[in-house]
Amino acid sequence: MIPSVLPTYNRAPLSFVKGEGSWLIEADGRRFLDLGAGIAVNALGHAHPALVKALTDQAQTLWHVSNLYQIPQQQALADKLVEATFADTVFFTNSGTESCELAVKMARKYWYDKGAPDKTDIITFTGSFHGRSSAGIAAAGSEKMTKGFGPLLPGFRHLDWRDLDGLKEALDDSTAAVLLEPIQGEGGIRPLPDDELKAIRALCDAAGCLLILDEVQCGMGRTGRLFAHEWAGITPDIMMVAKGIGGGFPLGAVLATEEAASGMTAGTHGSTYGGNPLGCAVGCAVMDQIADPDFLDAVNRKAGLLRQKLEGLVAAHPEIFEEVRGSGLMLGLKCKAPNTDVVAAGYDALVITVPAADNVIRLLPPLTLTEEEIDAALARLDSAAQQLETA
Ligand SMILES: Cc1ncc(COP(=O)(O)O)c(C=O)c1O
Repeated sequence: MIPSVLPTYNRAPLSFVKGEGSWLIEADGRRFLDLGAGIAVNALGHAHPALVKALTDQAQTLWHVSNLYQIPQQQALADKLVEATFADTVFFTNSGTESCELAVKMARKYWYDKGAPDKTDIITFTGSFHGRSSAGIAAAGSEKMTKGFGPLLPGFRHLDWRDLDGLKEALDDSTAAVLLEPIQGEGGIRPLPDDELKAIRALCDAAGCLLILDEVQCGMGRTGRLFAHEWAGITPDIMMVAKGIGGGFPLGAVLATEEAASGMTAGTHGSTYGGNPLGCAVGCAVMDQIADPDFLDAVNRKAGLLRQKLEGLVAAHPEIFEEVRGSGLMLGLKCKAPNTDVVAAGYDALVITVPAADNVIRLLPPLTLTEEEIDAALARLDSAAQQLETA
């Protein structure tokens, strides 16, 4: 008989009932060190006091009003994002997938309004992940995500990840935009080097198409800058955001330049819940913490320390691990042992990691992780590796 929860996930036999900072407490009382943070969602850890206060204060005041009216919390969060980024304007969503939908619509509408209605193609890359909607799976293009779900949304062309020569050739009059993650998350923590992101920006400019960055997983302080593309010194035309921006409350956003957003006039897009007072009150509290340069400095310091210790872990367990990769606190351990075995051994050692493609385990801890917790993380990962070595 089908379970009452649609069985689209292979769930671990763990049931967490409470979260405190970097820790998750299981129903049986065991305390797990959370290096997954809900897949880069709980950027400020669990039950951060500033977020609890923002949410509960707002909950006692006003939960929901329609976007037919002004929403001051939404305006405040949009102002913060515009102030801190390349963007001139923001639309709020409830998830990364919805941000993908709007990013694609915005790019196509831009060219339509410019008198180029055939400029509709979006170029994406193998190994990417942009969500599970019809546009999201068509964008990623992998058989794993698309098989059985056709007919797929047309207008996506897929190139090999980091194939810049292929991109140069593929860009033509039908290209509306190039869409990519500066660091592929689900694809196995595969960063695009800064010079390649710069080169892609230049190729888009030369070809006259838009650049859409998907910073759903790598954004919001995860790499030690507010957004990952800042390291390359370039800006996108459109950017997808979600996960960390709500710190655990469902919230996403599409950020855009005035030019790229020019087609999105009244009536062209909407959302019942997008930009609701609860989500935006929390989002403001998240931004106040993460956009602070001192906070980002601390992320960089901790990231350096964690990475250095992980290099030691890989060297100590050459049969289990192959390399460390990633940036900031978005790190991957490429495994030699099956990554799902490493994640399961981690559960036994009371540490949570997240599997990704390319036999990688992801470490996406709360950005508030302390130095003592880094030591605890290493001790637990070391014990997981030892368990696998003696198995
Ligand atoms: C890069 C990227 N884009 C989009 C998404 C989809 O986001 P959501 O699951 O919030 O719809 C994800 C989710 O993992 C992601 O990592």
